[in-house]
Amino acid sequence: MRLTILASAMMLLASGGLLAPASAQQADDFDFGGLDPGPGREAVYYTCRACHSLKQFTQQRQSREDWDALIDRMVDTNGMAEPEAAVRTQLLGYLSSHFGLDEEDWGGLPPGPGREEVYYGCQACHSLRIVVQQGLSRDSWDETLVWMVDEQGMPELEPDEHDLILDYLAKNYGP
Ligand code: HEC
Ligand code: HEC
Repeated sequence: MRLTILASAMMLLASGGLLAPASAQQADDFDFGGLDPGPGREAVYYTCRACHSLKQFTQQRQSREDWDALIDRMVDTNGMAEPEAAVRTQLLGYLSSHFGLDEEDWGGLPPGPGREEVYYGCQACHSLRIVVQQGLSRDSWDETLVWMVDEQGMPELEPDEHDLILDYLAKNYGP
């Protein structure tokens, strides 16, 4: 319900000849300039193409912080109306999850100690997919790590780092 109100407000804001869906029925078919579905899509669509094409930014990848700074730039130097706090949150959520840096979602690795080490250490040679599709016991993960080092050319891990990675893998990708 809140979203509908927000979307209509956006449409009003951006009326002036935009192809705004006239009903919920049409809204279902409307493709928002090709933006992938997700929370905040309407806000981005109606806010950001008032002055230029969506292509102005859909090729970009930046952190949430940088998207925030970009919104400030649009407001300070390009005449965009200051978005309300709730709208800004929607814009930022959408922009940083659809046009963010890959590191921000760590390739889908769940949060926890060791995530960074796995992210940077294990995809030097292959996709993370090969790692996350496994469900192995702690012992088997241990053997896998040894195998990576002994046979596959992975640099030897410091004992601390070895344990951190092993804990992470066993916890998140167990049998
Ligand atoms: C009121 C008009 C207006 C609105 C609304 C607007 N922009 Fe812009 N934007 C501009 C102008 C003017 C430029 C400079 C155009 C150029 O360089 O050709 C620009 C440039 C940009 C650029 C490239 C330059 C840069 O600073 O990085 C990006 C990216 C961008 N806009 C993204 C967005 C996003 C995302 C939104 C929605 C949150 C948005 N804009 C909303 C007017 C606007
Ligand atoms: C220096 C390169 C390198 C690094 C770094 C590396 N791997 Fe590998 N890994 C390989 C190669 C090569 C294979 C494919 C071996 C084969 O199938 O013959 C592989 C395969 C795998 C497999 C699949 C085993 C199977 O049964 O199919 C897993 C799981 C795996 N690696 C986990 C990891 C983890 C976890 C890390 C990070 C701690 C890591 N790898 C880091 C080179 C590497």
